[in-house]
Amino acid sequence: MSKTILITGGAGFIGSHVIRLFVEKYPHYQIVNLDALTYAGNLENLKEVEDAPNYTFVKADILEEQALAHIFAAYGITDVIHLAAESHVDRSISDPLAFVKTNVMGTVNLLNAAKKAWMGALDQHLFYHVSTDEVYGSLHEGGFFVETTPYDPQSPYSASKAASDHFVRAYANTYHMKTVVSNCSNNYGPNHFPEKLIPLCIHNIKSNKPLPVYGKGENVRDWLYVKDHARAIDVVFHRGKPGETYNIGGFNEWKNIDIVRLLCKKMDEKLGREKGTSEKLITFVQDRAGHDLRYAIDASKIKKELGWEPSLQFDEGIDQTIDWYLENESWLEQVTSGAYQEYYQKHYDNR
Ligand code: NAD
Ligand code: DAU
Repeated sequence: MSKTILITGGAGFIGSHVIRLFVEKYPHYQIVNLDALTYAGNLENLKEVEDAPNYTFVKADILEEQALAHIFAAYGITDVIHLAAESHVDRSISDPLAFVKTNVMGTVNLLNAAKKAWMGALDQHLFYHVSTDEVYGSLHEGGFFVETTPYDPQSPYSASKAASDHFVRAYANTYHMKTVVSNCSNNYGPNHFPEKLIPLCIHNIKSNKPLPVYGKGENVRDWLYVKDHARAIDVVFHRGKPGETYNIGGFNEWKNIDIVRLLCKKMDEKLGREKGTSEKLITFVQDRAGHDLRYAIDASKIKKELGWEPSLQFDEGIDQTIDWYLENESWLEQVTSGAYQEYYQKHYDNR
């Protein structure tokens, strides 16, 4: 069946992988990428598909009511996959309001635009909201997040994502919109903006700069290769049950310090440096305020009900990721010039 899917945040890290997958796999769908091109949005991420006949880019902000109404009408949007967000926890600590605006108000604005455009036929259109495992809060040593784990967000970022999830479910309950939500663990892979741990360390190792590890590096994250997340989004979009939530994760928990050491070891080998060279760059710095100790997803529901599971082993995924950054020097240079330098100094100097 033909569809015209509005994908928001398609110029960002995960969104660009979702766009590439959908444009290439579904030539009979029209894919409309709506992105405001904030510091995190980059059209370079979409070079492979920019000329595809079933792909259109529209620069717009999800906070702009009129622009959204126009886009739904002009393109005849049949479904939405919503990824646009402010996504970095550290930035949410210094500027929570920006997260309320985009993640909460922007999501409600988008829900309203979809509701208006699909009025009278709400059951024939899907609003898919892409969310995070951080809404469940922080785990200690044991246990996993399941779909019924109560929400307990601990950072301004996760509070804003939790609020947006609640609004999506409220629109399903109140207005009978057909919605689905997925909550995913930490992604890694090509096109990841180097404010996040893995690409930041790859960039700094390459440039012989300190590797800032918050606190003692004991915090645990569950890492999933971004292309596996995009595959999961494809599966949830096509086969997810309306009104349901699906947790997506890598069954792949790592302490931060162990990830950083692994990156050092692999990059010493790839760059032909003497063993142990890059580890000397590790610098323990002031911890993140309210730093969640551990996230871990139980992804058995999506496996059992929709047949999705991660395809790539972490060792292979990390190798592919490092190789991508080493082969795409100009991408890294472009995104780390200008505003990035200012952000970096403000955030890491005197930490
Ligand atoms: P990202 O920061 O790389 O990209 C976000 C994109 O949204 C950018 O292209 C940006 O320009 C766009 N955007 C931001 N504000 C906008 C606005 N007001 N209007 C229109 N576009 C706007 O983020 P990401 O890491 O790719 O995450 C995408 C989604 O997945 C987010 O909703 C995030 O919460 C969720 N998520 C991320 C991860 C992860 O590990 N990165 C894990 C689980 C869930
Ligand atoms: O769990 C899903 C979430 O994963 C997504 O919803 C977020 O959008 C995404 O940014 C990510 O959040 P994290 O805060 O876990 O990712 P980040 O890469 O910022 O940090 C990973 C861990 O590394 C975390 O424990 C903090 C630590 N860290 C991070 C940075 C940037 C450091 O020790 N040093 C750093 O410089």
